[in-house]
Amino acid sequence: MHSTLPIQHDFSLRQLNTFGIDARARAYLRVTSAAQLRAALADPALAAMPRLVLGGGSNLLLTGDFAGLVLHIAIEGREVLPGDAEHVHVRAAAGENWHAFVQWTLEQGFGGLENLSLIPGTVGAAPIQNIGAYGLEIKDRFLSLSAFDPATGQIVAMRGGDCRFAYRDSIFKQEPGRGLIVLDVSFSLPRNWQPNLRYAELASAVAEQGLAQPTPRQVADTVIAIRRRKLPDPAEVGNAGSFFKNPVVDAAHCARLLEQFPALVHHVQPDGSEKLAAGWLIDQCGWKGRSMGAAGVYPKQALVLVNNGGATGADVQRLAAAIQADVEARFGVRLEPEPVFI
Ligand code: EPU
Repeated sequence: MHSTLPIQHDFSLRQLNTFGIDARARAYLRVTSAAQLRAALADPALAAMPRLVLGGGSNLLLTGDFAGLVLHIAIEGREVLPGDAEHVHVRAAAGENWHAFVQWTLEQGFGGLENLSLIPGTVGAAPIQNIGAYGLEIKDRFLSLSAFDPATGQIVAMRGGDCRFAYRDSIFKQEPGRGLIVLDVSFSLPRNWQPNLRYAELASAVAEQGLAQPTPRQVADTVIAIRRRKLPDPAEVGNAGSFFKNPVVDAAHCARLLEQFPALVHHVQPDGSEKLAAGWLIDQCGWKGRSMGAAGVYPKQALVLVNNGGATGADVQRLAAAIQADVEARFGVRLEPEPVFI
């Protein structure tokens, strides 16, 4: 095995996943440069091990110990690029904390990412599930990224079209993109900024403050206040944000459900299909605030599963399966988990 890399063995991942699951990795490397990543994967013994690329660990459920190599991407750096007449471009390394990066863009005077304030995780993880909140997804501000391809040892540059962004999805969750390791991400932010208040809850929270022409900072602060009200802080209660995706059903299915459940929360999609609020479905099944062992449903937001202390990945899986079964029996909708199961 490579002698100069600071590989650690039988390493606890508890501090490295926001669910706070106490799983262990056979081998662990904190990666602080692309060169180090290349060196690690040039080592035949390391390259042959099953691999888990870890950012902030905020979108992952560790279902047991990991019998392989964890590459914890901690590469830092951020910069303003020249941009063009209409956009300023900014780039950040994959290991940068997402929220800190968004706040930094605001400090530079650049609006455009404020709706995505306070999302846990790293810059490098953000494109993998095309993070989104309050009417904005990363794909809306994405310019390009560079990624290390372990199969070839090359660094590849990818534009938006290459990434196949969709709702909480991208090429990095599918073959052939799954093996790529994101090194840095660049964003394109409008010089002529306008607030994005498409999300009703955000629009009304801005209006309530009497802000007719909010600044990017004010929008960010409003998003932060809403998130703090509804979502648990992973530093206090282990969780991975929304545990299920909001399911999309066809218009006929939605119409049938509405006859039986007139209060059903649904949003029509550009193709005529309907996105349902999974939190509402789970809430209606009576799961909000309930627990199974050490895993529970957050009392203020039924879409968030929490670790009430000492939960294992299996505890969370059991709870998730019970919720899926109830929602399916009642509404005929299969909920799909949002975090990646390892
Ligand atoms: N609702 C309930 N009961 C609940 C939770 C929600 O009735 O326990 C209802 C709400 O009243 C609302 C609707 O469901 O009418 C939607 O709830 P909310 O606006 O809180 O958003 P969400 O659909 O639960 C999504 C994202 C969040 C994102 C927010 C804001 C997904 C899976 N989740 O949640 O993303 O922050 O919208 O844009 O798309 C994440 O992905 O980890 C995440 C937190």
